[in-house]
Amino acid sequence: MLGNKMLRLCFSLLLLTCFYSTRVFASQNWSWSTCSKDSTFCLQVFFDHGRVDAKLYHLGSEIVRINCDGLLFKGQKSTSSFQLISSKVVKIDTVWNAPWGQHKQTHDRSEQVLMQLYDTTSKQQVELQFSFSNDGLAYRYIYHSKDSSSVMKELGTFIVTGDAEAWWCWADYNTLEKNYQHTSLYEASHVALPFTIKRKDGVCLAFMEAALANYPMMTLRQDTTNRGVFHINLVPWADGTAIKSFGAITTPWRVVQFASSEKDLLSSSFLDCLNAPPSNDDFSWVKPITFCGIWWEMHLGLSDWKYSGGRHGASTSNAKRYIDFAAANGIGGVLMEGWNTGWERWGEPDAFDFTKSYPDLDLPAVVRHARSKGVEIIGHHETGGDVVMYEKQMDKAFAYYQQLGIKYVKTGYAGPVNPPTENHHGQYMVNHMNLVMRTAAKYHLMVDAHEPVIPSGLSRTWPNLLSFEAVRGMEWNAWSEGNTPSHDCVLPFTRGLAGPMDYSPGIFDVLESNRKSDRVKWNGLDKGDSRVHSTICHQLAMPMIYYTPMLMLPDIPANYSGHPLFEYLKQIPATWDETRIVAASIGEFVVIARRSGTRWFIGGIGNEDARVIPVSFGFLKDKQSHSYSLCSDGKEADFNTNPLSYSIDKGTLHAKDRMELKLATGGGFLMIVE
Ligand code: NOJ
Ligand code: CA
Repeated sequence: MLGNKMLRLCFSLLLLTCFYSTRVFASQNWSWSTCSKDSTFCLQVFFDHGRVDAKLYHLGSEIVRINCDGLLFKGQKSTSSFQLISSKVVKIDTVWNAPWGQHKQTHDRSEQVLMQLYDTTSKQQVELQFSFSNDGLAYRYIYHSKDSSSVMKELGTFIVTGDAEAWWCWADYNTLEKNYQHTSLYEASHVALPFTIKRKDGVCLAFMEAALANYPMMTLRQDTTNRGVFHINLVPWADGTAIKSFGAITTPWRVVQFASSEKDLLSSSFLDCLNAPPSNDDFSWVKPITFCGIWWEMHLGLSDWKYSGGRHGASTSNAKRYIDFAAANGIGGVLMEGWNTGWERWGEPDAFDFTKSYPDLDLPAVVRHARSKGVEIIGHHETGGDVVMYEKQMDKAFAYYQQLGIKYVKTGYAGPVNPPTENHHGQYMVNHMNLVMRTAAKYHLMVDAHEPVIPSGLSRTWPNLLSFEAVRGMEWNAWSEGNTPSHDCVLPFTRGLAGPMDYSPGIFDVLESNRKSDRVKWNGLDKGDSRVHSTICHQLAMPMIYYTPMLMLPDIPANYSGHPLFEYLKQIPATWDETRIVAASIGEFVVIARRSGTRWFIGGIGNEDARVIPVSFGFLKDKQSHSYSLCSDGKEADFNTNPLSYSIDKGTLHAKDRMELKLATGGGFLMIVE
């Protein structure tokens, strides 16, 4: 109740200022422009003889041009030709609080132009909206269609001026668990979003989408003859249609986040601001959480999700062991994967039953044990991609968890989608994911979605949508050639921009050498030489660097218990009051300072190159002396040859102090300042 009241208070404290100005047109030409507060970036929107274009300028030079050519409906032969009916400018100045996040407060200061258009080709009223803030521009359409419609394409082009460095993943329609490529912009052929580039002048741009609902995911395809020209592409339905809709069609926001530096790129809340405020004010039950769980031991092959074979992980006794470990260490929850029947039939239709435990698990008793220790159980619904089965069971499955007192669920779609012809990233799956989010809210369940569609800020509207995988995360280090330190350092600037990221970092046995002889190979990618490619301090810092309000401490209890660094890992909170980017270079290093109450956590991770990063503590803002603990790579640490070497140093510091913090190759550090 208190949380609910707090939430209401926050909203009543909203500082909301909207200025409107409306113009009605008869002319063929019209334009509107606005600039960032420091005038570094400006946007100009043009209407000229039936077409809408926009230009983004940096210090007076055009850096991106956007053609907004509308939707191509089935049967429509030519591109849209618009008439401009009226336009309205709206200024927004709002402060809002969310139940979790990287900041306690978010300030939305933006300007929007709302253009009323008539599409003379598809004969419909269309609203085209632009939003511009100090760190991004976005646009979307609302087609006021009345009946059912099939859309074949969204026509839109981003024309980037000049070459740039680009970090991108191939636009696979079924997985976001990919390695990033680092190439010239001109080699980025067909990219998934977020797509990040750095121009020669240091300006960074990230192409993304916000408020993705009832619509397929977008990719960008570079024109094969005109380099720098990227066409919008939508992940299709099996029959080739892009969007199937009834009534009005609201496209997601097409977003270009911009920043003068890599540091500033990480400081934006633009994506969240483009999403609607909470769908109702009763999300007081939403709570961020840290958790451990029956997970890594199965990825290592120490136990199994399956019951058959006699190596079942999610038994009553093992679950209680994890619960006791969580309770003893102040960890909020325990994830239980492989608790329910069906894992033997993974890949077949209707394999899983989400209300039936395996015979060695007494789930109600486990939940009671957890409750007696103040620990939450994180439930698990692995569908293997069988969405048809999940939608049949969803209400019953969520009601079962609610009745047991389980408030968190991790979902998974590891496998081809059923219906077999649909893509993971098409409208079918976007609608499914949003159905899960809404249904979960009805049962007061919080969701961590694996193999999801890309986050797009929807958690602002549905705060129970806590986290998402959508990344080549830790699990790959258990059974494949794994992830590189550079991969870890690219993620904050790419996937991380889209929203909470459940990578599940924090493995202490980075060489995966403990209990090696007990492991059974279960994954075809496993060549027997997998390991985590970083130092232990890199692992310690990652859970602080990658933000997620469902924060897993993934290693098995035996690898944490008694380890001096675990005393620091377990202190990392799942929500923050304030976040500052200290140093950043895409793919090379990132250092972030985050405040929780009166404590600051400063974490850094680096790529394969060892380096020293100067850190100033001005954010402490006072004249007092602060005590600190610094966990960093040992003198001889090297992620290849000596990954476990670390040191813990304690001392005092002042806001005016500066330290040279060392990163070994593949290294990291975590500092806690009281
Ligand atoms: C893939 C998920 O990403 C992983 O976390 C999970 O353990 C497996 N699927 C099994 O559900
Ligand atoms: Ca996965």
